[in-house]
Amino acid sequence: MIDINSVVAGYTPEVDILKGMTLQAQPAEIVTLLGPNGCGKSTLLKTIAGFLQPRSGTITLQGKDISTLPAHHKIRHCRIGFVPQTENVFSALTIRENLQVGGHFMSEVDCRARIDELCTLYPILRKKFNTPAASMSGGERQILALARALMPGPSLLLLDEPSAGLSPKVLLEVFEAIQQVRSKEQVTILIVEQNAMEALRISDRAYVLSMGAVALTGSAAELLNNPQVRELYLGGRAA
Ligand SMILES: Nc1ncnc2c1ncn2[C@@H]1O[C@H](COP(=O)(O)OP(=O)(O)OP(=O)(O)O)[C@@H](O)[C@H]1O
Ligand SMILES: [Mg+2]
Repeated sequence: MIDINSVVAGYTPEVDILKGMTLQAQPAEIVTLLGPNGCGKSTLLKTIAGFLQPRSGTITLQGKDISTLPAHHKIRHCRIGFVPQTENVFSALTIRENLQVGGHFMSEVDCRARIDELCTLYPILRKKFNTPAASMSGGERQILALARALMPGPSLLLLDEPSAGLSPKVLLEVFEAIQQVRSKEQVTILIVEQNAMEALRISDRAYVLSMGAVALTGSAAELLNNPQVRELYLGGRAA
């Protein structure tokens, strides 16, 4: 349903960061993107979300060419949710206010009903509803960032390192939250992750990126058992 075909993109006219990126994800699939620092993982998500325009190539969502639509249009009209790698919640705003920002273009009634739904899915949000996000732990913030992006009911969710900086236990809770939303709302999820083993365990398929293009792809199980992937991303650990 999301089809990225030979996409070339970059921040300055002279330098291409994505050098012909081609990948797909099917409805309700969880797909992990792995790759070394600086290979273009965040750039890819930013390009899909519309913060960068492809120089060439196409991005198609449910058959519609969305390659050059700006981010605000994609969020509002194409049902794309994006949780960036950093600064993904408003610390000074309460949990309620953060969720309202996520639903700013929804009607008041719909917004309130959706907040209620998400607080039922993620009870921690209700518990701290009127406290500033600054008072949340790292894992709680990631859940809030996820819920904020889920406010308008996206069909495609882009998550950039949702487990960064989290302890192993909290990381599992965040991944559990991601799995829950996939099964409850049938969202297609693209996750960029450094914690390869844990991410692959909740994924259907994965891509390994290198220097702005796809180096390797397969089912999550295949990549978990691939000696090269194990060596590079799983510290040589057996799956
Ligand atoms: N806003 C920007 N302006 C110019 N260059 C940028 C910008 N953001 C990233 N880059 C460059 O683009 C390249 C890819 O960066 P990107 O953030 O996509 O990597 P990444 O794979 O997400 O890395 P990491 O694992 O460290 O998050 C890097 O060389 C980086 O310096
Ligand atoms: Mg990144």
